[in-house]
Amino acid sequence: MKPATGTALVTGANRGLGLETCRQLGRLGWRVWLTAPDPDEGQQVRDALRSEGLDVHFEPLDVASPESLSTLAGRLEQQGVRLSALINNAGVAMDGFNAHVAEYTLAVNFFGPLHVTERLLPLMEEHGRIVMVSSSLAELKDYPPALQQRFDPPPSKEQLKALLRSFVEDVRDGVYEARGWPGSAYRVSKLGLNALTRLLAQELKPRNQLVNAVLPGWVRTQMGGQHAARSVERGADILVWAATLPPEGPTGGLFINRRPIPW
Ligand SMILES: NC(=O)c1ccc[n+]([C@@H]2O[C@H](COP(=O)([O-])OP(=O)(O)OC[C@H]3O[C@@H](n4cnc5c(N)ncnc54)[C@H](OP(=O)(O)O)[C@@H]3O)[C@@H](O)[C@H]2O)c1
Repeated sequence: MKPATGTALVTGANRGLGLETCRQLGRLGWRVWLTAPDPDEGQQVRDALRSEGLDVHFEPLDVASPESLSTLAGRLEQQGVRLSALINNAGVAMDGFNAHVAEYTLAVNFFGPLHVTERLLPLMEEHGRIVMVSSSLAELKDYPPALQQRFDPPPSKEQLKALLRSFVEDVRDGVYEARGWPGSAYRVSKLGLNALTRLLAQELKPRNQLVNAVLPGWVRTQMGGQHAARSVERGADILVWAATLPPEGPTGGLFINRRPIPW
């Protein structure tokens, strides 16, 4: 079946999987709002995609900045933008491990998608799709039962936020190992993102929004590195697939290679 067309917004789209997702959606005939933290870089990338004949617009967005998100939302509202898909792609995998790394990683990879989704929800069309870009490093089967139980089943949204804040505090206090956390902020951020996906999918069912998490595989981007197994074109396929699901498509799932897998 031919995928639906519409209007999509992609975060962290100046390079890597975000940029390639904008390109692939553009080629499918979608209007795309490419967002990125740096305005100069974002505009350059927008111009490059436009020169390929694609319908691409740019707005700055730092997903960890409430001011930046508020400005973006206001500008989209002013222009009467309606979104058929929101792709929460922006992410960081920082070097080192300390309380600052933990806090900033969660700010971008967990609280970023949460706040962006909540703020842009009023702009979403019925049957809109929300895509969370997760990681195979957050599959629950790879963690001890005590840690699995914190995320599965997911607690309430407020409890989940508190749980992730407690991780940062435990790193700051040097007790994260004793409290059963892995020594990786990236892993914890994506564990949180998966739980959030499940909660939002339930919450937004009555509004007919589809919320799914996707795994791109190990992809040759700045984050994945040059030795990664997958091309960026192949990695972006799952983001595009989840953004173009039909109205009766799945919600509340975790997908790789267009197939569902357990959380
Ligand atoms: N590559 C892989 O193997 C792999 C595997 C599993 C999951 N993922 C996930 O896929 C997503 C994209 O990763 P990638 O491989 O394309 O990485 P990438 O090439 O490092 O790109 C990351 C993007 O996120 C943006 N970003 C970082 N902080 C941001 C912020 N505060 N606000 C808005 N944008 C921000 C970056 O913008 P700047 O250029 O301005 O920093 C960049 O555009 C991430 O969520 C990542 O966790 C990747």
